[in-house]
Amino acid sequence: MKKIILDCDPGMDDSMAIVMAVKSSELDVLAITTVNGNYPVDVTSTNARKVLELLDRTDIPVARGMANPMIRKSPSDPFTHGRDGQAEAYLPEPAMELSEIDAVDMIIQLVKENPGEVTLVVTGPMSNVAMAMQKAPEIKGMIAEIIAISGAFGLNQYAFLNATGDTPQSEWNVYVDPEAAKIVYESGVKVIALGLDVATYFDVNFSEEDIDALKASKKKEAAFLTNAIQFVNKRGFDAYCTVIDCMAVAYAIDPSLVQTIDAHVGVETKDGLTLGMTVIDRRHHFVWEHLPVISVGCKAECGRFLQLLLELVLK
Ligand code: BDR
Ligand code: CA
Repeated sequence: MKKIILDCDPGMDDSMAIVMAVKSSELDVLAITTVNGNYPVDVTSTNARKVLELLDRTDIPVARGMANPMIRKSPSDPFTHGRDGQAEAYLPEPAMELSEIDAVDMIIQLVKENPGEVTLVVTGPMSNVAMAMQKAPEIKGMIAEIIAISGAFGLNQYAFLNATGDTPQSEWNVYVDPEAAKIVYESGVKVIALGLDVATYFDVNFSEEDIDALKASKKKEAAFLTNAIQFVNKRGFDAYCTVIDCMAVAYAIDPSLVQTIDAHVGVETKDGLTLGMTVIDRRHHFVWEHLPVISVGCKAECGRFLQLLLELVLK
């Protein structure tokens, strides 16, 4: 089993990412660490615990993380995950306690206890991971890899059509904390950035049979997903919005789902029109060699991804 820490900001799609990760027999979820992003960190920490209670997996610790981005104020999200941050499912308030140590220390501790073995699956702004790297730089050489929903690289039409940050060509997780993304991209750790190019799409979607199977299921997580799909549809969005973050978990389970390219990438940290852009340098000549090289998702097998997702939700 692959050991992972799921660092997230639930969020309806983060909630579904938790469902997938916890139910997968391929993954050993050592901890869930929460961060400010879609909602303030108290809300995301509550929501993570609500999902674990729904799955009856309160043995997995939840550690609360950074309440703010590294150096800037948190922006407000133009897209809504509903009043509760979970598509207004209003799951029961959690009884399980938060971990006594915070997310940054939890990441440091677990990575040190399992050197070379822990994959960080990051589905929120990278504030916790960047802070952990600043606080304990020695962990950088001990992280197996980082799989993140991060960036919009312009490799296909979806990247910018579906741009989630509040600038025309940025992705929300990078837009919220671009300084954190820059630290992580430049850390030397293997980063696989699954941007909006591969984590959002219009043309592959749940079929009527899929929706019927979800509705027929007695699983609470199936009802959660059905409600989330109805919630986004009512607001004029497509169902993929409910499962964006699931692509990172799916990749952790089966990397053959997404093709990647290695490329130099810079993160824009200047305010204004381009804040949060992830600029890929693929030029034949004069490439900026000083930009870090990361792996960027360029093509996803969306059909197989949805199949895996549904298998796990219905399991
Ligand atoms: C990201 O933005 C958030 O709203 C989602 O949870 C996802 O992590 C996509 O840009
Ligand atoms: Ca998220």
